[in-house]
Amino acid sequence: MAYGKFITIEGTEGVGKSTNLAYVHEWLTQRGLEVVVTREPGGTPLAEEIRALLLAKRDEPVDETAELLLVFAARAQHLQQVIKPALARGAWVLCDRFTDATYAYQGGGRGLNVATIAQLEQLVQGDLRPDLTLVLDIDVELGLQRARQRAELDRFESEAVAFFGRVREAYRALAHAAPARYAVVDAGQPLTAVQQDIDRVLSRLLG
Ligand code: TMP
Repeated sequence: MAYGKFITIEGTEGVGKSTNLAYVHEWLTQRGLEVVVTREPGGTPLAEEIRALLLAKRDEPVDETAELLLVFAARAQHLQQVIKPALARGAWVLCDRFTDATYAYQGGGRGLNVATIAQLEQLVQGDLRPDLTLVLDIDVELGLQRARQRAELDRFESEAVAFFGRVREAYRALAHAAPARYAVVDAGQPLTAVQQDIDRVLSRLLG
């Protein structure tokens, strides 16, 4: 049995990740593929508990290295329990965020050392990387306006605009450095245009 492909979706707040993730899921399923949809941080009961710890607003300041290690702890569990077994049985995995979010949020946003993130990536993932990462890209202020119309803000959503500016730049730099793995989609376009772009990217991946 051939390995399935691993697709991740990334972007800053309010970029339309959920809508477009559902679109990608539908697109792949219609082509007869088994698709496991999951998310980070999270995707297993333990990793979802770590997610709740990460997102909760609290009075105690959260040490940035503690945050980084929690993200990778959740990822290690998720990889062993969900992602690797699914890929090994030939399913496709569609994941709402993955390690690019760590480079963007903990690296770009918090300013943590990228080499440290790369070491943890190697420790936790070995050589496993997504086959395709869709980066939904939007003007940060516009995205935040959209996101803030929703429910109460979590610990990340409560960050300042400048933080998300750095997150966005980090995503764009990652994509620029490895264009074969990333597709940057302009998420400020009307939804039909966004989805036409996604169609093209997925068609290319399917070959
Ligand atoms: P979500 O809002 O897209 O579900 O993601 C939860 C938050 O977690 C989001 O604000 C980004 C953040 N996050 C990180 O800071 N580092 C990571 O590695 C991941 C996967 C998410």
